[in-house]
Amino acid sequence: MSRARAAIILAAGLGTRMKSDLPKVLHPVGGRSMLDWAIAAAAALGCERTIVVRGPSGEAVARHATKALGEGAVVVQDEPLGTAHAVRAAEAALAGFAGDVVVLYGDAPLVSAETLEAMFAVRAEKGGLAVLGFDARDPTGYGRLVLAPDGGVARIVEQRDANAEDLKLTLCNSGVVCADAAVLFQLLSLVRNENAKHEYYLTDIVGLGRSAGIVTHIVRGEESEVLGVNSRAELAEAEAAFQLRMRRKAMEAGVTLIDPATVYFSFDTEIAEDVVVEPNVFFAPGVRVAKGAHIRAFCHFERSEIGEGVVIGPFARLRPGAKLGRGVHIGNFVEVKNSNVGEGAKANHLAYIGDADVGQRVNFGAGAIVCNYDGFGKYRTIVGDDAFIGSDTALVAPVKIGARAYTGSGSVITKDVPDGALAVARGRQRDIEGWADAFREKNKKDKA
Ligand code: UD1
Ligand code: CA
Repeated sequence: MSRARAAIILAAGLGTRMKSDLPKVLHPVGGRSMLDWAIAAAAALGCERTIVVRGPSGEAVARHATKALGEGAVVVQDEPLGTAHAVRAAEAALAGFAGDVVVLYGDAPLVSAETLEAMFAVRAEKGGLAVLGFDARDPTGYGRLVLAPDGGVARIVEQRDANAEDLKLTLCNSGVVCADAAVLFQLLSLVRNENAKHEYYLTDIVGLGRSAGIVTHIVRGEESEVLGVNSRAELAEAEAAFQLRMRRKAMEAGVTLIDPATVYFSFDTEIAEDVVVEPNVFFAPGVRVAKGAHIRAFCHFERSEIGEGVVIGPFARLRPGAKLGRGVHIGNFVEVKNSNVGEGAKANHLAYIGDADVGQRVNFGAGAIVCNYDGFGKYRTIVGDDAFIGSDTALVAPVKIGARAYTGSGSVITKDVPDGALAVARGRQRDIEGWADAFREKNKKDKA
């Protein structure tokens, strides 16, 4: 049986360089806060306990983490005395836990589950400590992994404490560590702050471990996955790395992206095979697309379902709760919100469908809209199968259009329409013979 697992997520930093009222770790990458990325990673690893370490001013972080993980999951590091000090702040909260602990970071959202699994695996096989290292294109600022002759890590040297020889190393420390809980806290109790920053370094457990006969093994990750976010520019870098990963994943799963760089996904976007996505499409969180759908250029989707073979766009918007049945056609400048649109229904131009249940094969004419909101309440509209909503119809909710019914163009429908009926609700046309010609003549004469 594999050992029990726990995670400690460090999130005590102030994040000053973000210049934001929002705590750094609550900024989103791929539509999910960086803290939630770390929490999700811990959950995916099957951690039975996850502890978030926040700073004295991190009340918003505490609220967020407590909501996700429950009471007792948040501890406070009352002074920023270093990463070792931060991890120790979680010791009491993990009292009674026996097993492996992984240290994650609230500002490093992209560490993959496979890489983290590899850390547990190396521990299961060889014991000791596991650190996540990576080859940095530019190692400046990172701690360097100094290797021992046996291939393990001899020690980790921080940039500021490094000598000329150390500085040439490009194998760097991501900060992620995996260790037996008891060993981790035992080693942490030995860490001193005699270094350039006068901080308690988590990285010192590697050298201390070696003195005690505990070997540290390296698991190598990609630089793009260990990326930490300290500024808005780095936030954009993390976003770009995430998008690259998602675009690749979508294409591998059989999705055509005509211009991948212009399509943006969220952490939970689900797209089936043989979907074609044209350029400039944005998937906000909660979107699912079934097989064979064709998404034309310039669309924005959020918390919606797109059925098999749907054709949507260009310039269409799906807001939360839009569900498009199989083969639906949604055209340019059409918005759908909190509505079910039945199989084969069409709204091809300039329409708004909100809080509605639209039957199968319904045709929503150009400019037809639902008036679902009166400034106080929101009301539902029901449109029966095979109904034909004439162009520029306003359906004033709550209202029900019968199956197979027609509404005349330009109608304002305020009452239910029976099945199979035609509803016309507009002024009758009246022609005044010669009026326009006479009007023109008179005005020309007056001007002359
Ligand atoms: C740390 C590592 C370094 C590694 C680098 C990777 C140490 C001593 N060094 O350096 O080897 O290459 O990360 O990015 O660990 N934090 C707290 N409380 C503290 C101090 C830090 O919660 O008292 C949190 C920060 O919010 C941050 C993380 O720990 O998320 C790392 O701290 P930081 O000060 O940025 O460490 P680095 O100097 O970058
Ligand atoms: Ca850092």
